[in-house]
Amino acid sequence: MKRTYKFLFSIAALGLLATACNADEDTGAGNGSSGGNDQGEIEIFSWWTGAGEEDGLLALIDYFEEEYPELTVVNAAVAGGAGTNAKAVLATRMQGNDPPSTFQVHAGEELIQTWVAAGMMEPLNEFYDEHDLLDKFPEELIEMVSDEGDIYSVPMNIHRSNVVFYNRSVFEEHNLEIPTSLEELMDVAETLQDADITPIALGDQEPWTATHLFENVLLAELGPDSYNRLWQGELSFEDESVVQAANQFAELLDYVNPDHASRNWQDSAQLVGEGEAAMINMGDWAHGYLLNDLDLEVNEDYGYFPFPGTEGSFNVVSDTFGLPTGVENPDEVKEFLSVLATPEAQDIFNPLKGGIPARVDADESQYDVYGQSAIDDFRNGVLTPSLAHGSAMSEGYLTQANQAVNIFVTQKDVDRFVESLESARDE
Ligand code: GAL
Repeated sequence: MKRTYKFLFSIAALGLLATACNADEDTGAGNGSSGGNDQGEIEIFSWWTGAGEEDGLLALIDYFEEEYPELTVVNAAVAGGAGTNAKAVLATRMQGNDPPSTFQVHAGEELIQTWVAAGMMEPLNEFYDEHDLLDKFPEELIEMVSDEGDIYSVPMNIHRSNVVFYNRSVFEEHNLEIPTSLEELMDVAETLQDADITPIALGDQEPWTATHLFENVLLAELGPDSYNRLWQGELSFEDESVVQAANQFAELLDYVNPDHASRNWQDSAQLVGEGEAAMINMGDWAHGYLLNDLDLEVNEDYGYFPFPGTEGSFNVVSDTFGLPTGVENPDEVKEFLSVLATPEAQDIFNPLKGGIPARVDADESQYDVYGQSAIDDFRNGVLTPSLAHGSAMSEGYLTQANQAVNIFVTQKDVDRFVESLESARDE
C-alpha cells in the first residue's frame, strides 16, 4: 500500500475534533484522560464500550488479570463506533505526551501513516522474535502492520466489512432469494419497499456507516483489482466506474430507513434483528451484537451473505494494539501484548466480538457457523482493505471522505462527490 505522508494533517485534524468529543455525554468506562502508565497499571484505550463492542474486551481483560494478577488494567474505552470519538481523544493525548499504555488501531494506513510516520510507536520486531509470532499471523496482516521492515502492532482480530446480515423471516415471508449482484439487491429492495418493509437499515448518526456501505458498493462495481488501484492512486475517483458506483450508492440510499441520521450502528442493526428492516451491511461485529446482545440465533433468526457483487473478496478490518513511545512501563505493556497475541486470548475475545482470530493456529471449534465460514472466506478470498476502517487510506483522507459521503447522503450530487474524493488526496 502506497504511503503518503499526511500524518501531521491527520493528527491536527483529529486534535481539532477532540475538543468537540470531550464534551460528548457517553464516554463509556473511562474518559480517556486518566493517564495510565504507572508501574503495575496497563491502560487499554479502545472504543469498545457497549452493546456488542464491550463483551469481548471485558472477557479479554478478565483473562489477562487472571494470568497477571500483579498487574491492573484500566479500561479507558471511549464510546462511538469505528473510533468516532476515541480517535480524537487519542490524538490529543498523543500530542500531549500522555499516551495510553496501548491503544486500538486498525492495521494499515491508520497505524502506519498516522502513528508510525509521526515516530510515536515502538518497533516490536524483538517482541515478535521472542514470542515466536512471525509465522502465527497471516503474512498479509504482518505486512499491514509493518513499515520498512519494522513491525508495529499485534493483531487481535479480523473483521469482514463486505457482509450483509438479514432477517430470515422477512425474506421467507416475501419469498426473497439472496441477492448476488447490485442489480438483484435493488430488485429485492424494491419488493420490500412495496411491502412497506425498510429494505436496508442504516444508522449514519456517525457518518462512517455510510462510508462503509459506499466502500462495498465500490468493491462490487469495480471488482477487487480496480478497487485496490483506487487506493494506490492508480485509478481516479472521477473514473467512469466510480461515477457509476456513486450512482448505485445514491439509488441504494432510497431504500434506507428515514430516521437513519439519528441512529448508530447498533440501533440500525436492531431494526434488522426485530424485523423492521430486512438487511444491513455492517462489519461482522454486528454478528456479535445480534448474537450476544439481542440473543438472536444465526441461521434461525438472521442469516448472512457477502455484499452482493463482492463474493470472493474479503474486505479486511483488523484491530491491533501496539506500544506507544514514551510509556513508563513498556515491559509490562508487552506482557499485555503477549497475552492478546495468544490463541487462547483471541479465542475468548473473538467469538463474543463477532469476528475471527488473527492467529492462524486458533481453535476453530470455538467459532460458530458464521465464524467458521468467515475463517474459510478469509483464507480463500481476495483480500481488500477497508476505507471506513482505516486500512486503505490515511486518517486525514478518511476524515475528508466521511465528510464527502455525509454531504452526498443528503445532496446526492455525484459530480461533486467524486471530485471531493479525488481532491482529498492532495490535501
Ligand atoms: C471498527 C472496529 C471494530 C468495531 C467497529 C464498530 O472500526 O474495527 O472492532 O469496533 O468499528 O465500532
